[in-house]
Amino acid sequence: MSSFTGNHILSVSQFDRDAIDLVFSVAECMEPYAKRQKRTTVLDGAILGNLFFEPSTRTRVSFGTAFNLLGGEVRETTGMANSALAKGESLYDTARVLSGYSDIIAMRHPAAGSVSEFAEGSRVPVINGGDGANEHPTQALLDLFTIKRELQYNHKSIDGLHIAMIGDLRYGRTVHSLSKLLCLFKNVRFTLISPTELAMPQYILDTIENAGHSLHVTDQLEGNMDADICYQTRIQEERFPSQEEANKYRGKFRLNQSIYTRHFQSKTVIMHPLPRDSRTEANELDNDLNLNPNLAIFRQTDNGVLVRMALFALTLGVENLVSQYEKDVIWYSNKS
Ligand code: CP
Repeated sequence: MSSFTGNHILSVSQFDRDAIDLVFSVAECMEPYAKRQKRTTVLDGAILGNLFFEPSTRTRVSFGTAFNLLGGEVRETTGMANSALAKGESLYDTARVLSGYSDIIAMRHPAAGSVSEFAEGSRVPVINGGDGANEHPTQALLDLFTIKRELQYNHKSIDGLHIAMIGDLRYGRTVHSLSKLLCLFKNVRFTLISPTELAMPQYILDTIENAGHSLHVTDQLEGNMDADICYQTRIQEERFPSQEEANKYRGKFRLNQSIYTRHFQSKTVIMHPLPRDSRTEANELDNDLNLNPNLAIFRQTDNGVLVRMALFALTLGVENLVSQYEKDVIWYSNKS
């Protein structure tokens, strides 16, 4: 990706290490604004079309928050039933119309490939907020940004990382996108733990092996792993052919303090893209880990705002102007 300005962000396959470094350096500069130490109006007058045709809490709200923090306005539509897609309108027509109302669009849709199809009709840049079981590029970037920060704290780098990914690796789009990004680094060790039926798709396993990384696939937590990162996932019940099928796997891989102590190092960072399924029958990431300092899930969600601010600034070509439009924060804030 040689330039961000005016371009869609549809897949992590668009990124190389230079592009990742650029996103991360712009994201670092966004921290004072996200922490309300300063504010900026660099996108004053710009409009984000935030189109979420599938449920979301953090991706939708953090896209909106990121745009607001840069001084822009947000217009949203949520749910398929509330849009003209329910009346048979095509993604192309929807894109032609809504790109007339917006300077940039963020979109989530349940069908794989749908956001790319939408982008073909759009006259403004489109950012993929998740398309079915396919990709979730901004989540992968915020995950990678979090991994980099957490490892720095432990005096390590992403090159040489050992990551254990656990749970529904078949339908979990975040692990697909993150694995592809990690393949750009050196000597990564992947331990992939899932029921056989929910294993990582073969094309991603091939990508990992073709890039020369170490790969271990298993259907159970084994011994004490020397993983730097434990990346837990939710059973993506909405993508299963039936609820009964999803129920077979719910609760299969739980992580609580005692399991963590048995299988991981005392410094292993615990990540999860969220939402975690906290219902008793699932409870894949127990509340007894909430006070564990290695639990990075809420640092991930905070980092998501920084990364999405960076992507908006880069895509709209204002990454070097943010501080020129800076103002004081005059209200009480305890975020610093
Ligand atoms: N991680 C993530 O995509 O969360 P939401 O579904 O709440 O957006």
